[in-house]
Amino acid sequence: MQKKPKIPGWKDKTLFTPGPLTTSRTVKQAMLRDLGSRDVEFISLVKEIRQKLVEVGQANQNDYTAVIMQGSGTFGLEAVVSSTVPPDGKMLVIINGAYGKRIAKIASILKVDTVTLEYPENTTPGLQEIQDTLKADANITNVSVVHCETTTGIINPIKEIGRIVAKSDAKYFVDAMSSFGAVPVHLAQCNIDYLVSSANKCIEGVPGFSFVLCKLSSLNETAGYARSLSSDLLDQYQGFEKNGQFRFTPPTHALAAFRQALAELEAEGGVAGRAKRYRKNYETLIAGMRQMGFKEYLRPEDQGYIITSFLYPQDDNFRFDEFYERLNEKGYVIYPGKVSNADCFRIGNIGRIFEPDVRALLAAIRETIR
Ligand SMILES: Cc1ncc(COP(=O)(O)O)c(C=O)c1O
Repeated sequence: MQKKPKIPGWKDKTLFTPGPLTTSRTVKQAMLRDLGSRDVEFISLVKEIRQKLVEVGQANQNDYTAVIMQGSGTFGLEAVVSSTVPPDGKMLVIINGAYGKRIAKIASILKVDTVTLEYPENTTPGLQEIQDTLKADANITNVSVVHCETTTGIINPIKEIGRIVAKSDAKYFVDAMSSFGAVPVHLAQCNIDYLVSSANKCIEGVPGFSFVLCKLSSLNETAGYARSLSSDLLDQYQGFEKNGQFRFTPPTHALAAFRQALAELEAEGGVAGRAKRYRKNYETLIAGMRQMGFKEYLRPEDQGYIITSFLYPQDDNFRFDEFYERLNEKGYVIYPGKVSNADCFRIGNIGRIFEPDVRALLAAIRETIR
């Protein structure tokens, strides 16, 4: 017989993952609405969200716009690759993890001419090599990099890369999926033309859409570039500008939750306030994990406070699946590793989690390994 769901008063497991994340009860409650997608209330909600996203990127509304795309983060990445690279363009993809590789894969499927610069997963990209590559190949029209490579948690130097790209004619595209909202980004100062993130990461909404922050002057040059109807970024933008509406059915509930999530971000002190909480989560986590003998995969100077990869302990009795299951039974969800050349697992510091939650996880880990 099926178990009866325990609502209200249920207790979900705490998610120490890269997303979907633990969200506040008020964010979940904001979804308990039926909104018409062509209704004035929904149209004004979408407008407010788009404006606030530009503010989170510390940008001027005259220079940047937010284009919301239905679908998860990857759909937003695909929208940028498919509709901002000219038909005869060439994309330089900087890679130091699985998500950089994903952008290259998207480009390859779309038959976009691509050149890659690939670095080990525990190393930030070589700035000189990027500069030399751009200098040597005038055909490169677009450059992409991942901000927080969630594969490991490494933070890539998007500002420095932006300065290099600015010396060329290429457009600069940053996948800031797991960092936007918690790691400060100044769109103009980083020379970013397109930045992608999604609803269910550091802004602490629920899954359902991604968004692209676009430099208007660049976006407006892309007419005729789109290789797909549903992911046509310029057409989606023009739709919003024409009547405030999505071209196709929007995730109304996820957007209602997101407006509440943005209000909660503001109440926490914006990106700086959220960064402070996540950093505290991270510091508490690594201090506790080190005490138990766990070691991080990355060097501390490359490690961000979003998510941490820990090496499997050198103990023949350690089985990740069992470790995971036992923590899960205690109500804590961690994440498998994604590093290609080392056995790791990952623990995220993002979402509606606080220092006491991290301490509770550490206690559960201590009990489990014992
Ligand atoms: C850096 C980065 N890029 C892309 C993605 C893919 O996003 P999604 O799974 O929402 O499609 C993720 C997901 O965690 C990510 O962290």
